[in-house]
Amino acid sequence: MSKKVVLAYSGGLDTSVIIKWLAKRGYEVIAYMADVGQGSDFNTYKKRALATGAVKVVVEDLKSEFVKDFVFKSLKADAVYESGYLLATALSRPIIAKGLVRTAKKEKAQFVAHGCTGKGNDQVRFEVTIKSLDPDLKILAPVREWELKTRSEEIEYAKNNNIPIDTTKKKPYSIDVNLWGISIESGKLEDPYYEPDEDIYQLTKGIDKATAEPAYVEIEFKAGVPVRLNGKSMDGISLISSLGKIAGDAGVGRSDMIENRLVGIKSREIYEAPAGWTLLAAHKALESLVLDRETLHFKDLVAQKYAELAYYGLWYTPLKEALDKFIDETQKNVSGVVRLKLHKGNCAVAGRKSPNSLYKKELATYEEGDVFDQSLAKGFIEIWGLPYRGSYKGK
Ligand code: ARG
Repeated sequence: MSKKVVLAYSGGLDTSVIIKWLAKRGYEVIAYMADVGQGSDFNTYKKRALATGAVKVVVEDLKSEFVKDFVFKSLKADAVYESGYLLATALSRPIIAKGLVRTAKKEKAQFVAHGCTGKGNDQVRFEVTIKSLDPDLKILAPVREWELKTRSEEIEYAKNNNIPIDTTKKKPYSIDVNLWGISIESGKLEDPYYEPDEDIYQLTKGIDKATAEPAYVEIEFKAGVPVRLNGKSMDGISLISSLGKIAGDAGVGRSDMIENRLVGIKSREIYEAPAGWTLLAAHKALESLVLDRETLHFKDLVAQKYAELAYYGLWYTPLKEALDKFIDETQKNVSGVVRLKLHKGNCAVAGRKSPNSLYKKELATYEEGDVFDQSLAKGFIEIWGLPYRGSYKGK
């Protein structure tokens, strides 16, 4: 029986070489491409995969599922890894892995393969997800074990084996793109003190090039999900891309961080997520208006855990599912409108309103119409501080 493998194919050098490498070892390779908004030229890549030795190419448009079931879940959770990463790459891995498993079933393949190295998070995310969906599938990770140690050796291999790749193009960084953002690493970035050139950025303008005038945007949420931009009703994909353009032009959405990978390595990362950071600011502003204090504070703890689960490849796990239920429960009232001012890299909340607002002007006001009985505060404070009366022995 022939050995069939479904490979997560990106169209780039690594996964093109993998097609040949596997074919030479007797595998029938099916190249699988998921469209998660990376803007790839799938037709060119399809031809490339077939010319390299793939027996079949499967392309699936997963953009709306990606937005609905991954990106917006993460947004509802306010998930951010280590204060700077909106998880664009991390969120895309489980949906691609699910696509691999689905395709393997359909094609009756016993193997799936990916092009991740042995030093990153992505191998973990792919493999944990694949095994949680189908423990019987066998996973191949050629880059972890093959003899091609450097990029030039891979290019050499590609030339010797007539693999149609664009070898003239220099590849100074490792870049992963989807509709939620861009992740850039390696190359000159490996020096943490090196300031990246402006041309590394694809979605955001630098402060000096950003639009001079502030851009105001109005975002409407329904149950925690953004549904309108500047009064116009939009699906998630168009909302993210329209907002991303406005925010990116205003210089909003960059991060430069030293990040802790799951495999124990610290790594320098540059991220761009202009729509993401704007939506996060808006979503949090709305939550602050409609959620009670205890839910809001508890949700902050959950956000941290949620980000870790997504980052660590634990998307399809019982805890993550349970947290989604908790988060959805908190989002029932997160409907309303937030207005933001985007200017020279800054994303400021200008105003927020909601029919579910818990803000009560008659309690907060220092002007006419105050209904808060200040005389009650005295007793409240005495009882609140009772356990601590005279208890502090320090100086
Ligand atoms: N460090 C990020 C993460 O683990 C980004 C990885 C980006 N992958 C890439 N091939 N450039 O999610």
